[in-house]
Amino acid sequence: MNEESTSGMASEGMPSRIKISASILAADFLHLEDQVAQALSGGSESIHADVMDGKFVANISIGPLIVEALAPMVHRAGALMDVHLMIEEPERFVPRFVLAGADIVTIHVEASKDVIGTLKAIRIHGARSGLSLRPKTPLLSIQAALPWADVVLVMSVEPGFGHQVFLPESLGRVHRIRELLDGLNSKAELEVDGGITVDNAAAIAEAGASVLVSGTSIFRSGTPVPDAVRGLREAAEKIPSRRI
Ligand code: DX5
Ligand code: ZN
Repeated sequence: MNEESTSGMASEGMPSRIKISASILAADFLHLEDQVAQALSGGSESIHADVMDGKFVANISIGPLIVEALAPMVHRAGALMDVHLMIEEPERFVPRFVLAGADIVTIHVEASKDVIGTLKAIRIHGARSGLSLRPKTPLLSIQAALPWADVVLVMSVEPGFGHQVFLPESLGRVHRIRELLDGLNSKAELEVDGGITVDNAAAIAEAGASVLVSGTSIFRSGTPVPDAVRGLREAAEKIPSRRI
């Protein structure tokens, strides 16, 4: 696991730097190596791989072979391989994805019968444990498991597809989860995933996000990928001029 790129906690009083996780779902798969290299050269702290099984969500995407192919270049750049499992019974695949090079393995609270056990298993296998929830899932459903989560990933669109519009009610959910994590004295990262743009990034950061996951705004913005990564971070670090 790479500690360097995530250990940069800001010193007291200074806001932490917002991290960017580039979601390859929106990348050009014919040139995946080059696309990931560009996201890394723009300073992406992690590369986000969306794994879908056609059952938990109505889509099928990538699996451990792609994670395995990308992980060495991600690690050479000092970044993390951030794997988001949108699959039923994710516990079945934890060892496989860690072996493939995942530094973070995120499961959905709705998908596992033993959420805390699976989060523990992810840690035991040597990765950071991530817990995610769909936009309509009550926050109460993740509360008991929060002490076992190194990452909380708030879905701000219905999972399954990229290029959707950010659900504005997600801001309140991010804010509330930030309060819950602070109340636990948790150092967990708070990732927000779906529909993030330069226009809403600052409000999401202000609500308490520490990591912005983005596919479309990075790989399909019409600007070179490294510039898009830098632009998204700059936008996130500006004081929001308006609410979404
Ligand atoms: C959706 C995925 C997201 C998606 C975000 O199910 O979890 O990671 O790639 O992509 P954009 O930025 O297009 O919303
Ligand atoms: Zn995702």
